[in-house]
Amino acid sequence: MDIEFKNIVDTLKATKSITRDQFAYLLEKDGEDNREYLFEAAREVAEQVFHKEVYLRGLIEFTNYCKNNCYYCGIRCGNANADRYRLTEEEILSCCDRGEKLGFKTFVLQGGEDPFYTDEKICSLVRKIKAAHPSCAVTLSIGEKSYDSYRKYFESGADRYLLRHETANEEHYSKLHPESMSGAERKQCLRNLKEIGFQVGCGIMVGTPFQTLDNIYEDILFMQELQPHMIGIGPFIPHKDTPFRDEPEGSVEITLRLLSILRLLFPKVLLPATTALGTADAIGREKGILAGANVMMPNLSPVKVRDKYLLYDGKICTGEEAAECNQCMRRRVEHIGFHVADTRGDHPDFVN
Ligand code: 5AD
Ligand code: FES
Repeated sequence: MDIEFKNIVDTLKATKSITRDQFAYLLEKDGEDNREYLFEAAREVAEQVFHKEVYLRGLIEFTNYCKNNCYYCGIRCGNANADRYRLTEEEILSCCDRGEKLGFKTFVLQGGEDPFYTDEKICSLVRKIKAAHPSCAVTLSIGEKSYDSYRKYFESGADRYLLRHETANEEHYSKLHPESMSGAERKQCLRNLKEIGFQVGCGIMVGTPFQTLDNIYEDILFMQELQPHMIGIGPFIPHKDTPFRDEPEGSVEITLRLLSILRLLFPKVLLPATTALGTADAIGREKGILAGANVMMPNLSPVKVRDKYLLYDGKICTGEEAAECNQCMRRRVEHIGFHVADTRGDHPDFVN
């Protein structure tokens, strides 16, 4: 094995920090035993904290209306080919009922930025879910809102909030989003969410157009400042009805190495092996867990809308029932020697 590679991994593990050049080395240096050494170090750290448990989060994609026009995203408002839908409150509540029966202890409500779902509607929904499933956590993933809106969601009982920052570099951010959106605003939302008391998830896509290695290093610096509880990363995958249709897919290998590096930097962080990773590679999610991830997010959305929530082409699980994804995930987790947790799976700092 490459001695320098090994030294960098050992130092990273011991100090939980990494320089820009060390980071570049870990991402770029090839060799099977090098990458294995990195993955194994991350796996060990995850095991110390999470004991080979994987947390499942039932994902409910409740609206694909969105007022934003992000260049990478299939449900951007400019995509006239998207077949738009909204789930009713009843439908969402029945997804949660089904989810609890399947053993999920977290529901993630994810949607585009859809003004139809006013704060009142979101708060009412959160209160109803928490009343029906008091032992479950509710995670919201509905984009940028005001401080006041976030505070209302939290007071209604929402526990966690996912908002990927997408890239910490403002110039790069402006190449992925229309002028109406700003990276600074995005980061401020994340700081607000943390201040309010949510368990907060940020994150990026790997291999978005114009992304450089230095951009990803900046993402790490931002995460070190924010200290998120969750970090969502997956490869960029082009969608045919977006300006990035002809751009290449992000690298699974870089995604896996980055997962490992993040695990070593943030031992306690909740790190999903994402659907995008499972789309880019048939066993990508398993590879993610073996590289230090500890969360998977089976789809709980009604089958009739699944093939409409297409952020990118080729998305997996669009034809399966919730029960099928549940079984499939449990099988995958056990197949690699891990087991599915039956707890809520909060960040260790939030467990009392
Ligand atoms: N490829 C991969 N991930 C995507 N996302 C949006 N579009 C794509 C794409 N084309 C990710 C973004 C967003 C999350 C919900 O999905 O990072 O924050
Ligand atoms: Fe949905 Fe495997 S997780 S089919």
